[in-house]
Amino acid sequence: MSNTQEYVQWFRGAAPYIKAHRKKTFVILVSDDVIHSDRFIGLVHDLALLNHLGIKLVILHGSRKSIDSHLAKNGVDSNFHNNIRISDATSMPLIVQAINEVKTFFASQLSMGLPNTPMSGSEISLLSGNFVTGMPLGIIDGIDMQHSGKVRDIKHEEIADLLANHVVLLSNLGYSRTGEVFNLPAEELACEVACSLQADKLIFIHEDLGEGKSAPSSLSTSDVEAMLETGQVSDPIRNVLQQAIRAIQLQVKRVHLIDQGIDGGLLLELFTRDGCGTLITNLFYEGIRSASIDDIGGILSLIEPLQANGVLVERSREQLELEISCFQVIEKDGMVIACIACIPADVAGLMEIACLAVHSGYQNTGLGKQLLELAERQAQKSGANQLFALTTRTSHWFIEHGFSESNDLELPENRRARLNPGRGSKILTKSI
Ligand SMILES: CC(C)(COP(=O)(O)OP(=O)(O)OC[C@H]1O[C@@H](n2cnc3c(N)ncnc32)[C@H](O)[C@@H]1OP(=O)(O)O)[C@@H](O)C(=O)NCCC(=O)NCCS
Repeated sequence: MSNTQEYVQWFRGAAPYIKAHRKKTFVILVSDDVIHSDRFIGLVHDLALLNHLGIKLVILHGSRKSIDSHLAKNGVDSNFHNNIRISDATSMPLIVQAINEVKTFFASQLSMGLPNTPMSGSEISLLSGNFVTGMPLGIIDGIDMQHSGKVRDIKHEEIADLLANHVVLLSNLGYSRTGEVFNLPAEELACEVACSLQADKLIFIHEDLGEGKSAPSSLSTSDVEAMLETGQVSDPIRNVLQQAIRAIQLQVKRVHLIDQGIDGGLLLELFTRDGCGTLITNLFYEGIRSASIDDIGGILSLIEPLQANGVLVERSREQLELEISCFQVIEKDGMVIACIACIPADVAGLMEIACLAVHSGYQNTGLGKQLLELAERQAQKSGANQLFALTTRTSHWFIEHGFSESNDLELPENRRARLNPGRGSKILTKSI
């Protein structure tokens, strides 16, 4: 394929994401490792592009490295307790200086508009302000943490109003009602901002999660908890993971971790199907598991209304009993709220995705996508390389998840025998 064709194909592939992200609110924390690297200017261009595509952006920056080097340059040592810097009276003015330098540099780069660069004519309107109220961490284990603080409040309504026309840039400083300044952990602040704004995405552009190995494309919150329990994650990654779990628990829809070492990682993660980072979801909080015979009643309650209005094909209790080992269900508070079946066909390498349903009260929260991803992983494990699904009303959803219409697929004998031609279902396939 020529470069031009690849470009056109890539651009077309990005179209659904461009539409999906428009007017959504993304909170993005950029570690200051990136800010000091030669990849930073590329990231700035990518942030400008997101802004032009109508995404509402709150950008935060980390400052840890900058503070370290500023203190070292001035001959001031830092003391830490529980991996938190004690921002004492001597170091605090230097800490504020370091943070402000990073913020000013970030703002200057986002203000560029040089001709012949991707920023040409950008005119991003950037705002900062006293949106974050901080309070002292206080005395921990007998140690006064002084100006090291935590988030007390975010003026989220003011930020939300501004996002219609401006990008908001926040640094990790919080101001108290008594006029003091606090050094806040950037990861916690990003999480608080995302939660208070009910952001659609919280994105950490940070140290590589894979630490040399390739990072997983998705993790459930319970996977993340297990990683934290092993104690084999670096301190900066630990801070990010802990806040990622909190954000998910507090209803931020998606948390993405993107390796700061990948040039264009933000665009790849947001505008390609496979992404390049790690998506953290609440999969296991929703109780996803293989179905057992005891779930048949729950599955029937879920699918019967959909069968009645013709969205799903009829499945009797007897058929469910035969196929139950092919089902995955999501259970919440004792109720089956979603299900999917991954049924082997009589043809090697081929599997059918069937009986996908999410309870109406839980739709549009990503459960359908998660179930499909799980089914795909399982199909792959069992040696399948192609999936098919028959659908009358959900073809677009499947197409958005990588399927394409393929009405000439020769259905396996066992499936053709059960086909109801009166439904006029479309056949969709996907190579995995
Ligand atoms: C289709 C279904 C499984 C999707 O599950 P879900 O958990 O709601 O989906 P997700 O949260 O992963 O994705 C939501 C996105 O899919 C879109 N979507 C939902 N149903 C769709 C449909 N029939 N066609 C196209 N897009 C659809 C939503 O608008 C939403 O898009 P947005 O994020 O741009 O707003 C669910 O809507 C459902 O159970 N529908 C009824 C049963 C059905 O049609 N099953 C498939 C039988 S083959």
